[in-house]
Amino acid sequence: MSSLKRKPLVVVTRRLPDVVETRMRELFDTRLNHDDKPLSPAALVQAVQEADVLVPTLTDEIDASLLAQAGPQLRLIANFGNGVDHIDVDSALQRGITVTNTPGVLTEDTADMTMALILAVARRITEGARIIPEESWTTGWSPTWMLGRRITGKRLGIVGMGRIGQALARRARAFGLSIHYHNRRRVSARTEAELEATYWESLDQMLARVDIVSVNCPHTPATYHLLSARRLKLLKPEAVVVNTARGEVIDETALARLIEVGDIAGAGLDVFEQEPAVSPRLVKLAKAGKVVLLPHMGSATHESRIDMGEKVIINIKTFMDGHRPPDRVLP
Ligand code: DGY
Repeated sequence: MSSLKRKPLVVVTRRLPDVVETRMRELFDTRLNHDDKPLSPAALVQAVQEADVLVPTLTDEIDASLLAQAGPQLRLIANFGNGVDHIDVDSALQRGITVTNTPGVLTEDTADMTMALILAVARRITEGARIIPEESWTTGWSPTWMLGRRITGKRLGIVGMGRIGQALARRARAFGLSIHYHNRRRVSARTEAELEATYWESLDQMLARVDIVSVNCPHTPATYHLLSARRLKLLKPEAVVVNTARGEVIDETALARLIEVGDIAGAGLDVFEQEPAVSPRLVKLAKAGKVVLLPHMGSATHESRIDMGEKVIINIKTFMDGHRPPDRVLP
């Protein structure tokens, strides 16, 4: 890449914050998407045939068949986002294309949103917030009305104790929750002590004991439907499920069914298996106040999105200067 005599062509698939787009234009020959709609399949093919660097987001499917159509000039896929489950990383690497992502900068905001969903479901916040605008608060305060569940003293089970899982644990401790976690690898004794977290090697055993379960692991072939129908059935009937990671980690149909029949109390979901489509069963449960559904907003702050853009720029610049970019995704 450093041998290029011209500025590299960087194709960006979605609108990015103004400040990021401006900086990219200054540095690179940048082709932006002014429509802010995902590129059509044909436009995506054209992008990989012409770009030196592609900047996709999670709404672009960068699979093996697309990569097979890429021109030899495509050297870097600098993803705007942390999760790379929409990119066939192995295929890219086999073709000599480097892949980078934007870890670290959206940790706190995503953990905030996870905590917000836990509170929203337990304390019926979104349901309550509809009442006054709908002008249906007619009888005033009542000892028995709109009762939720206390979270202080409850057990939170975190599935995936990476950066976001740990940031959630810190917040949850401040709310008086006890922290339990399952992870591929046990975190260091120091981190466990700091978070006062109990490690469960067996996910099944942890699920049977917690009151709230939060999914904070990436979607990979190994985590697809990790919370399967069988595992979801292990939860207590009062349990609540929260997901701000990827929809595919939970068997969404099984989750909806178990909430419908009262085997799970509720859920707070920011991510779905077929985004932007959401199961009509979940939508019905949201209308009934059993679940809270958000349109993938975990990292949706000005700060996170600008920081993500800065990471993309640093990754591209470093790569073009002939160095290893800081956020290289490994196989
Ligand atoms: C990511 O970066 O993968 C997030 O899901 C975007 O919010």
